[in-house]
Amino acid sequence: MQSLNETLSRRGIDGDLHALIQTLAQCAGEISTLVRGGALSGVLGATESENVQGETQKKLDVIANDLIKNALAAQPLVKGLASEEEDDVVPANAEGRFLVSFDPLDGSSNIDINSLVGTIFSVLPAPTGAVDESAFLQPGANQVAACYMLYGPATVMALTTGDGTLMFTLDPNSGEFLLVEERVRIPEDTAEFAINMSNQRFWQPAMQSYIADCLKGKEGQRGKNFNMRWIAAMVGDVHRVLSRGGLFTYPQDTKNPAKPFKLRLMYEANPMSFLVEQAGGVASTGYERIMAIQPDGIHQRVAVILGSKNEVNTCLGYHG
Ligand code: F6P
Ligand code: MN
Repeated sequence: MQSLNETLSRRGIDGDLHALIQTLAQCAGEISTLVRGGALSGVLGATESENVQGETQKKLDVIANDLIKNALAAQPLVKGLASEEEDDVVPANAEGRFLVSFDPLDGSSNIDINSLVGTIFSVLPAPTGAVDESAFLQPGANQVAACYMLYGPATVMALTTGDGTLMFTLDPNSGEFLLVEERVRIPEDTAEFAINMSNQRFWQPAMQSYIADCLKGKEGQRGKNFNMRWIAAMVGDVHRVLSRGGLFTYPQDTKNPAKPFKLRLMYEANPMSFLVEQAGGVASTGYERIMAIQPDGIHQRVAVILGSKNEVNTCLGYHG
């Protein structure tokens, strides 16, 4: 089996980007070790602080954020970084070619119940000039790489540099990520959806109708029975979609009128959309391609509907 390093070399990935991806993989290896130690690593439980989104930070949110921040700041090719757990953009090395946005610990409410968590990265080209928030405000279509690492029974990494989506598994013996799938393909059809059903009464009419028709099953207009899954960690749900197809959505809702959307564009929706599109899937807000959105802030949130091409398109049909 080829290592990540060998795979990137064989594919002729730009040397700087290659080095950066190796750094991201190394961070994930270290976080994976902490996650595996659970209570023994002292990583469970919450801190007393909140992030910019007003969410209580878990201990591991902070540990993973600091670990990645330090590793990236030490990389001469990183010009700046933006994290879910940092209020503002963090400038790194003036000569750097890349900007990195990341969610250090996605699904962090799962950490205390020994369930799936992961890390998500998005890499953008760095414009010339100073690194401030405006440097990051590029559409997802500009991404040069995106990946997530899922800390599950196995630690896996899904990676794209714009030429398909690759899947790696962390070899616990060597500590290296080994290539297990060169071109992931998401099945175009599915009978599985993922949505937080407890928000049903707060959704917009389009999503209400789409899910209602799925729930009618064989007897309804869809003419087939659907299954539902919800991991409460986007990494886990997107990994299932990449593995066997499905539709994943966190739609707009009116539960908290000040926050109509849940998922973050820069470090959740964009990198996941890149991975899904490169595997033949579709990623939309319901009304536009996620990767075409011109961001207006690093912590901006969006509605997300992604996964199997035909099923997502069916759902988009309800949105008019
Ligand atoms: O990062 C936000 C997130 O944790 C996602 O990973 C996940 O899909 C979603 O929120 C879970 O939301 P809820 O708490 O509504 O189940
Ligand atoms: Mn997250």
